[in-house]
Amino acid sequence: MPCNAPIGVFDSGIGGLTVAREIMRQIPGETIIYFGDTARVPYGSKSQKTIITYSKQIVKFLQTKNVKAIVIACNTASALALEAVAKEVSIPVIGVVKPGAKVASMTTKNGNIGIIGTEATINSGIYNTYIEELNPDVRVYGKACPLFVPLVEEGWLTDPVTVEIAKRYISSLLELNIDTLVLGCTHYPLIRNIIGNIVGENVTLVNPAYETAIELKEVLMRAGLENLEPHREHKFYVSDGADKFKRFANTILPCDVVETEDVNIES
Ligand code: SIN
Repeated sequence: MPCNAPIGVFDSGIGGLTVAREIMRQIPGETIIYFGDTARVPYGSKSQKTIITYSKQIVKFLQTKNVKAIVIACNTASALALEAVAKEVSIPVIGVVKPGAKVASMTTKNGNIGIIGTEATINSGIYNTYIEELNPDVRVYGKACPLFVPLVEEGWLTDPVTVEIAKRYISSLLELNIDTLVLGCTHYPLIRNIIGNIVGENVTLVNPAYETAIELKEVLMRAGLENLEPHREHKFYVSDGADKFKRFANTILPCDVVETEDVNIES
């Protein structure tokens, strides 16, 4: 696999752009091929079988772009499909859950960690498993926030309705005296300000995207796959609504989104 091959990054929609943004900041020499499954978002309310089917279709598509590694920039797919996908390919596959769990276990001081995510991610208990493996003395409390993904996909990033819903979701975690809250869905960093205002300064927010980019960098280095001749022509694909996606991506990425294409990957 040539070192100047791109990295495949995928999510159910726009949330994975928070991970792509972090990769662009931390490993600026790498080229990204992003796929957002905007026609089928959200994943968080779907079964594991469906999430695995969708993830495999996306990985097959990314492989046609000759990617050298894949980042599953979606907590739900990382929680429920990473193993199934990794078995089918011979390139590194990195998810966002393990890196997020690692930071959370190192961040907490009082041992009370909150996780917010989709129903599928929270019900999988995967954050609890990884965090307790790293630090058996902590208590991990999960809370599913199923309305957040549709609100973010709708662009309601500062809307009072989003604030009200966030208060309802998060108040029960605050009663448990958490000092660390993992944004366990890649859409949630896009409403980080709302969440941060609700939890206050005594609770540290963990965005797994940052640590995921660090892990990707380490994996590429270990495999001798770092790009030493950068050209950075990132490309973006979605399963629906390329124009809307492109407009949004241009507001959050540290580069111009020059191309976004609608593709059908269901064949
Ligand atoms: C979703 O599509 O429901 C959420 C994506 C994620 O879990 O990061």
